[in-house]
Amino acid sequence: MTDPTPDAWRAVDAYFSDILVGHDPALEAAVAAQHDAGLPAIEVAPVGGKLLHLLARISGARRVLEIGTLGAYSTIWMARAIPADGRVVTIEAEPRNAAVARANLDRAGVGERVEIRLGRGEHVLPTLEEPIRDGSEPPFDLVFIDADKESNTLYLDWAARLGRPGTVVVVDNVGRGGLVADGATPRSDVVGTRAGLALLGGDPRFDATALQTLDRKGWDGVAIAIVTDAAG
Ligand code: DHB
Ligand code: MG
Repeated sequence: MTDPTPDAWRAVDAYFSDILVGHDPALEAAVAAQHDAGLPAIEVAPVGGKLLHLLARISGARRVLEIGTLGAYSTIWMARAIPADGRVVTIEAEPRNAAVARANLDRAGVGERVEIRLGRGEHVLPTLEEPIRDGSEPPFDLVFIDADKESNTLYLDWAARLGRPGTVVVVDNVGRGGLVADGATPRSDVVGTRAGLALLGGDPRFDATALQTLDRKGWDGVAIAIVTDAAG
């Protein structure tokens, strides 16, 4: 088997996106609005958005937690996967991002099922615990972690606490262009990503794998986990 050249893997990504995702005006409008507002173009690739969508459907998710909204591109994908009376709670630290996200969600017709919680994950996540503990809200069925990589262990801990055995957990950007395999790098995002993977591999509350990805965002990876019975 030959190693992929950039031209070849870009062509494969374009082909997969074309044939399996296709033209999607609401998602394209969301990306355009995000770009116009000056937000970074780091939303998941179309094939990655569809993966989140399918994982939500496969798992029968009704309640989704997202950490890191950006312009709500991935949020739209997941919101479309849940029933009309389901809920996506998405946490965003940047008010400007949240404003773009709100407009994108409303334009995509899923605004009513999405609650944007403004603030840093470390501050917002604890506020989600009480309604789950007291039974007034069910736990989350799917958690997508896509924020500051330095906090991945904190976010994974919260995913186990706010989920239940069977909850699906997805962590974006676990490849970091190959740097993740370098245990000596001082880069804080890589250190955080490695700590998150070590937790996924060693903490009995999770069973996990990770796949490398090569899509329009380049070489990266995604970790997929389930919360086990050990989370009680
Ligand atoms: C970055 C963050 C992301 O979530 C992503 O998908 C790609 C890049 C970043 O901070 O560089
Ligand atoms: Mg990401």
